[in-house]
Amino acid sequence: MDTMKGLKRTHYCGEVSMSDAGSRVVVAGFVQKTRELGNLTFIDLRDRTGIVQLAFGDETDREIFEKASGCRAEYVLMAAGVVRERESKNTALKNGDIEILVDDLRLLSKAQTPPFEINDKKNVKEELRLKHRYLDLRRPELQQSLMMRHRIVKIARDYFDRQGFLEIETPTLIKSTPEGARDYLVPSRVHPGSFYALPQSPQLYKQLLMLSGFDRYMQVARCYRDEDLRAHRQPEFTQIDLEMSFVDEQDVMSINEGFLKEVFSQVLGIEIKTPLRRIPYSEAMARFGSDKPDTRFGLELTDLSAAVKKSEFKVFSGALAAGGSVRGINAKGAADRLSRKEIDKLQELVKTYRAKGLAFTRLSSQGESSSFEKFLSPEETAAVRAALDAQPGDLLFIVADAKEEVVFDALGALRLELGKRLELIKPGSFDLLWVTEFPEFEYSEEEGRYVAKHHPFTAPMEEDAPYLESDPKRVRARAYDIVINGTEAGGGSIRINDPDLQTRMFKALGFTEERANEQFDYLLEAFKYGAPPHGGLAYGLDRLCMLLSGRESLKDVIAFPKVQNASELMSGAPTAVSEKALEELGIRLAETEE
Ligand code: AMO
Ligand code: AMP
Repeated sequence: MDTMKGLKRTHYCGEVSMSDAGSRVVVAGFVQKTRELGNLTFIDLRDRTGIVQLAFGDETDREIFEKASGCRAEYVLMAAGVVRERESKNTALKNGDIEILVDDLRLLSKAQTPPFEINDKKNVKEELRLKHRYLDLRRPELQQSLMMRHRIVKIARDYFDRQGFLEIETPTLIKSTPEGARDYLVPSRVHPGSFYALPQSPQLYKQLLMLSGFDRYMQVARCYRDEDLRAHRQPEFTQIDLEMSFVDEQDVMSINEGFLKEVFSQVLGIEIKTPLRRIPYSEAMARFGSDKPDTRFGLELTDLSAAVKKSEFKVFSGALAAGGSVRGINAKGAADRLSRKEIDKLQELVKTYRAKGLAFTRLSSQGESSSFEKFLSPEETAAVRAALDAQPGDLLFIVADAKEEVVFDALGALRLELGKRLELIKPGSFDLLWVTEFPEFEYSEEEGRYVAKHHPFTAPMEEDAPYLESDPKRVRARAYDIVINGTEAGGGSIRINDPDLQTRMFKALGFTEERANEQFDYLLEAFKYGAPPHGGLAYGLDRLCMLLSGRESLKDVIAFPKVQNASELMSGAPTAVSEKALEELGIRLAETEE
């Protein structure tokens, strides 16, 4: 094998250009491919910036020529030579008009044939890619994602620094708290039987930093949540986390609009208009069936209660009588675009959101058909159609349920599916908005009590605070989410800074005084020594990167991601540990049946 002795890289591969013609450059990287054409050999050399063509011909020293001809994919090379204009230009490459006529070639490392070709266009099974992630990461697409990720973090640090934020690290071995997702626990050797938790977010610490007078805090923070993995979630993820003192919702939102403006402008060259739209939660649900609406297309929901309240059709009137709702969507002009079979598939889709059915009317040019109009009076049918502004060619969908949230979830999901199927979303377009005035609580069927929708430290809206005890359902929170293209990219709130209100909040959440004290004594105590009003927000950095890079999966913007079952395929984590390690921790495993 050769050494690098006497050579220093002068250029990245992708950066050698026509303006270097005639000068001698030194490049380094991996072999993308070697082409041998008799007395000519070409090597495409790749680094994180792109590809440059190395040329070897009659004028090349024979020893170098032979070395070049023996180079296989992924060999690691350093090459020096003079840049010249190419005879046959490759317009697909950004520097496909030049090549380097190599006069010094160093073979620094050989490579076995990799289990898959390093090429964005090849369809390789994800499992294989993740098992050899270090190879997968050589792909230009992933390299660009991670470079963009770096850029976003850098912009965040610079922007918030300019706004007077201090980056302060908070601990990652902390006290376990019962609210939110399940904690990852870390056993203590020194305190057998006791456990640390990994933070789900730096929430309490950042609030305490406000109580300590730091005024403006930010951190690029690792967070851990042991929850079942759904779309756009990883067990271990990163937040751009921030907190500010002496602010209200508008202050937090507008400082973040400044950040988003800068990120979009610097990373994508897109100028977003601020202030962003603000949509109260109740409006977002009523119009889009979602608290993170994708408003790049219409297909809004319509309330049909008035039209069917008195109907003989119990599916509709019964749902209303039980306190639920009947709502519909008019897929304008879609009657001839979706087949009966496709409509049946949509029925299956809404059922995964707990809806009991999906009623439809198809006003096709071949004639009308409907799954439910035969059960309605002519007046009711007319009223439903009028409410949905039905015209020939339209396709109407209706969901009824005794639980309003089922109607919203089902129609919200149906709307997104229709948006995709009918290609209503312009590729590459961005839609940013705030959703505000979230409910403070949501009822957990599982726990049989109200739980905090955001977290227990979120301040209620002033006018709703009196109802904490008597009517928790109607209490709205001073919380806000930033929604980008229908994904929750971040969320935050103004916090409670009054210990009495915090105690009432814990009570409303079903905590006894003892349990609140046991869990949060240090926080409640801290509030007694002067607590500035404060609030903040955290972005899911992974989600932000996914959205900005136009990727579909968080795995495309995380160097070493975990898969659905929370394992990491390359290293094999998590793994069993030795008896000795367990013994030191005072842990004995329960017998498990295979
Ligand atoms: P929240 O729980 O809403 O708020 O989290 C903030 C943002 O983090 C991202 N996120 C995730 N990203 C990937 N994988 C996950 N499992 C995951 N969970 C959340 C989302 C989300 O909007 N401490 C509060 C913030 C605050 O009040 O200031 C918090 O953690 O993009
Ligand atoms: P059924 O009387 O149950 O056969 O229902 C008649 C029509 O109403 C069928 O097209 C069903 O898909 C539809 N349907 C049933 N339940 C619901 C519901 N909860 N919401 C909307 N449509 C429903």
